[in-house]
Amino acid sequence: MKMKLVCIMALACSAAFAQTGDAARGKAVFEGKGQCFTCHRINGNGSRTGPDLTDIGNLRKQEQLEKSILDPDAEIDRQNRTYRVVTSTGETISGRLLNMDAFSIQLLDSKERLRSFTKSNLKEWAFVEKSPMPSFKDKLNAQELADVVSYLVSLKGIEERIAP
Ligand code: HEC
Repeated sequence: MKMKLVCIMALACSAAFAQTGDAARGKAVFEGKGQCFTCHRINGNGSRTGPDLTDIGNLRKQEQLEKSILDPDAEIDRQNRTYRVVTSTGETISGRLLNMDAFSIQLLDSKERLRSFTKSNLKEWAFVEKSPMPSFKDKLNAQELADVVSYLVSLKGIEERIAP
């Protein structure tokens, strides 16, 4: 009953739901329906094209995590921005910027390949303001969102292995 009252106020609603999230169910959504591993990495599993989320629970608050999932373009951490180059033959490649100096640019492309470019062979090179991550606003329901956020909040670094 109390929950219903809180949820009449749209702003408080998501926060109230998030408190009821279940990390184990969230893990299942992350790995299944959400397909988050296509781009993200946790404890050595998954892809390197998006940010590694192994210790995201230490870095971000619940509300920030929720926002990242519902509206990925709103706020992008500087180091997570996508970089795009266009070659002189017109090919466009985007990915994570690994390194850049006066003459060359190294990217990790969307298939996790290391790509190196000489600036003199490029027509354009710049950061992209939009996130390649889709919004999950219409893909996850409120409960699934709360569960995924609980799971992310629980990620506090590499799982310690007990020595044999
Ligand atoms: C198509 C690739 C892709 C998919 C699929 C994807 N993400 Fe992302 N995600 C990214 C990229 C790239 C960024 C960095 C840019 C940004 O902040 O939007 C990001 C950023 C984030 C962040 C913010 C990280 C930070 O340091 O603040 C969170 C949290 C996140 N994703 C969670 C998820 C979850 C949960 C799912 C699945 C429901 C998911 N992502 C699916 C590519 C993806």
